[in-house]
Amino acid sequence: MRIAVIGGDGTGPEVVNEGLKALKVVAAKVGFEYSLKHFDISGDRYLARGGDPNRQTIPVIEDSEIEELRSFDAIYLGAVGHPKIAPGILEKGVLLRLRFDLDQYINLRPVRLYPGVETPLKDKGPNDIDFIVVRENTEGLYSGAGGFQYKNTPQEVSTQLNVTTRFGAERAIRYAFEVCRRRNSRKKMLTLVHKTNVLTFAGDTWFRAFNEIGQKDYPDIKRDYNHVDACCMWFVKNPEFYDVIVTDNIFGDIITDLAAVIQGGLGVAAGGNINPKGVSMYEPMGGSAPKYTGKNVINPLAGILAGGLMLDNLGEGEAAKAVEDAVVKVISGRLSGLAAGQMGYTTAQVGDMVAEYVG
Ligand code: IPM
Ligand code: MN
Repeated sequence: MRIAVIGGDGTGPEVVNEGLKALKVVAAKVGFEYSLKHFDISGDRYLARGGDPNRQTIPVIEDSEIEELRSFDAIYLGAVGHPKIAPGILEKGVLLRLRFDLDQYINLRPVRLYPGVETPLKDKGPNDIDFIVVRENTEGLYSGAGGFQYKNTPQEVSTQLNVTTRFGAERAIRYAFEVCRRRNSRKKMLTLVHKTNVLTFAGDTWFRAFNEIGQKDYPDIKRDYNHVDACCMWFVKNPEFYDVIVTDNIFGDIITDLAAVIQGGLGVAAGGNINPKGVSMYEPMGGSAPKYTGKNVINPLAGILAGGLMLDNLGEGEAAKAVEDAVVKVISGRLSGLAAGQMGYTTAQVGDMVAEYVG
């Protein structure tokens, strides 16, 4: 398999580095071959090439790089975000551009509380926090549609359109039903999360698609619906209720940060931007953590787990499991904490331990 590596900004490269250690060991152990190509796509490069930090003046990724990335089996991404560059430039220029151009229409976020990890939820354990969020990843409020009128006047108007298509909702919903069917859970339940009581157009498109598809093609899977605000409440009160969740882009963004916290924080939360028929991209959920950059203190486990998710989706289930098991061993047996600087070990030492347990 050919893997494109984008370390990106801040602590991204450090984290990815530790994931690559685990990859090397697990490939030798399980017996598969791979090659890596590193892409320097980052805020530092943008600035070095003379990009304006306040508005995008030159491309952050070249068109030719996007084309080249299409030819890989997967992309392994560290982090996006630079303290000297205005919000939006790198997010839109790198992360959203890759998601959209490579049509990675699913954002897959497994939420598991591993044994030995502390959750802020009282009286909840690993059996209670184990679900998957399937987030639509290419439309909704992220479409970029909208604009200003009378900008910088007292009459300023801004619109930000929630572009929802039946096609987009349907493919996310089908993917989620499939995830639910394959998942080894007792519940076999898919929950649609939206806000149909207020977003009566976009919500209705999702709701009808969900029920029609479920009724016709997935009668074996129980259907459930939650408003997004109620879902946030249940994540805290009754996370054991959930099995698989499907939701639109912005709601998925918000609820998965909450989900990350109940599973032990950004140090262990990983995700994949999936194009089931194209090239997918795997990343830790945490950002570039500028204040920890280069200090060798950031927790690499989410990045390593993202590598595991990548292996799983590339058909290397055994390797993926070996990586995940090694991470669990390190968490429960070795670390004093999961936050940056609190692990009792450096970033590189944690990566070495995982690699050692993998092998
Ligand atoms: C995420 C991030 C991104 C998003 C940002 C960095 C654009 O928060 O992957 O959840 O909003 O999708
Ligand atoms: Mn987010």
